[in-house]
Amino acid sequence: MKKKILRKHYKGDVAQNYEQGRSHTQKWQDEQNTVAEILRQLPEGLKLIDAPVGTGRFFEVYAERQLNVEGVDVSSDMLAEAAKQQAAQRVSLVLKQGDIFKLGYADGAFDVALCIRFFNLVNEPAMARAMRELARVSNRYLIVGVRHLVPVGELNLKAADGIEKLARQCVSRVIALIKRKIFFQKRKYIAHLFDVLRLKVVARHCVETRKDGTDYYIYLLEKQG
Ligand SMILES: C[S@@+](CC[C@H](N)C(=O)[O-])C[C@H]1O[C@@H](n2cnc3c(N)ncnc32)[C@H](O)[C@@H]1O
Repeated sequence: MKKKILRKHYKGDVAQNYEQGRSHTQKWQDEQNTVAEILRQLPEGLKLIDAPVGTGRFFEVYAERQLNVEGVDVSSDMLAEAAKQQAAQRVSLVLKQGDIFKLGYADGAFDVALCIRFFNLVNEPAMARAMRELARVSNRYLIVGVRHLVPVGELNLKAADGIEKLARQCVSRVIALIKRKIFFQKRKYIAHLFDVLRLKVVARHCVETRKDGTDYYIYLLEKQG
């Protein structure tokens, strides 16, 4: 999605129905569990920025890990949903309206920067800008979700569903190219971006593989020197 459109998309009904429309899915549950599992491996009490925070889906685990959290989102309506979640769960954290491409924090202001369900909404240059900004404000860790195109060499074309996956991948790529609403990132490019930003992959968890020849990973990254 174009950045300008994306900034305005999560408003009104879209914001109010966001979690209700997704939280019952396997993917959502697996994301919840994966993020919780990663956070439980890190020390308690860290300072974390969640951008975009959306409706505040990870607040429970933030409280459990006693994290010191700031949630940033461009949409006031998504922030209003997050504020309801915060009140219901009585979690202590800060919610702020802001832009992921220009976070108003000092370098290394946080120990962890978390970004889930954003990089599939923007193209490569925008993803690189946002990732660079998250790496700037974190002094150590990044936790990011990325949907990739599975490289053709890994689709196992000899398997019963191999050709079907390739065909579906081609169709999804064409649709994505035409609609420009969803972006599938190339694994090679992601690896290159992590290299350029000097981010080491500490762990990666596959949350979902789809018949359309894409897969979705959550990465725990650590900044190098
Ligand atoms: C798909 S939702 C993901 C929310 C949450 N991270 C989750 O996993 O449910 C995308 C979010 O990105 C926010 N967003 C879009 N453009 C943004 C920007 N430039 N800066 C900060 N947030 C932005 C939207 O308002 C929306 O809340």
